[in-house]
Amino acid sequence: MGLFEGKKGLVFGIANDFSIAWAITQELAKDGAEMGFTHLPDKDPERPKNANKVRKLVDTIGAKFLVPCEITIDEQIDAVFDKAEQEFGKIDFVLHSIAFAPPEDLTGPVYASSRGGFKLAMEISVYSLIAMAGRAKRLLNPGGSILTLSYLGGERVIPGYNLMGLCKAALENSVGYLAHELGRECDVRVNALSAGPVKTISASGVGDFKKMLQLYETFSPLKRNISAAEVGKAAMFLLSDLASGITGETLHVDSGYHIMGGPPLEAAGE
Ligand SMILES: NC(=O)c1ccc[n+]([C@@H]2O[C@H](COP(=O)([O-])OP(=O)(O)OC[C@H]3O[C@@H](n4cnc5c(N)ncnc54)[C@H](O)[C@@H]3O)[C@@H](O)[C@H]2O)c1
Repeated sequence: MGLFEGKKGLVFGIANDFSIAWAITQELAKDGAEMGFTHLPDKDPERPKNANKVRKLVDTIGAKFLVPCEITIDEQIDAVFDKAEQEFGKIDFVLHSIAFAPPEDLTGPVYASSRGGFKLAMEISVYSLIAMAGRAKRLLNPGGSILTLSYLGGERVIPGYNLMGLCKAALENSVGYLAHELGRECDVRVNALSAGPVKTISASGVGDFKKMLQLYETFSPLKRNISAAEVGKAAMFLLSDLASGITGETLHVDSGYHIMGGPPLEAAGE
């Protein structure tokens, strides 16, 4: 019997087949999870490109529903949780895999970030988790779980990650506060998975992404980059009952890159 047999959940953040949320979804589906999904609303209802892209994927794993959700609009978030209640009654997990910063602010330097860009990046990348947690808690079964995606740039300075680093710092801190509150109030766990670089649409907005991939091959203990499937499996673990004693945690899935305090000695030359 799969780990998610009889479990139901909501997934926010699939844009296409490169999305980390899709890699996680595939693992959850293999283990029997039933899921509802959201997509970024389409500007032109005659040409629903976003909806179609996501539908093509989630139909293959028997999605229970797919609804639009612009995460800056409260009524749209409410509608997703109402839909989940109608379809499922109670749920067991929520996956938050959403981030955005305006390209002109993301490319840095951080001191040149605009006020509007900072607010929007924090709203979409951080407040969205808080907004979801507040709504999810009435639907989540005891033992339920919320998971978000982070990156090492929230803990340390990673050149090129810039404004998104500030967002991930706030996101990981939110995970701690939410874990404290939801653990006490409703026995729900909240964790973050800090992934190494994976080629996706969001990643392409981060300057020097190719160089980041090379750095992981050179400096990480495993001397390679991670795959989206490896993120999927670890995320599935954190969302599952196997992780029932884990909350407020940030788990790194990054070939061990985060433990290094310096480059390998060979990098210093003779
Ligand atoms: N790709 C990486 O290297 C990497 C590494 C560590 C962490 N992450 C994190 O993983 C998460 C998923 O990113 P990804 O790499 O899969 O890229 P992605 O572009 O596939 O996913 C980002 C998602 O955010 C959604 N989104 C953006 N703005 C939104 C809004 N206003 N309303 C609703 N949805 C919105 C997009 O539609 C998309 O589905 C992000 O939090 C990202 O920071 C990515």
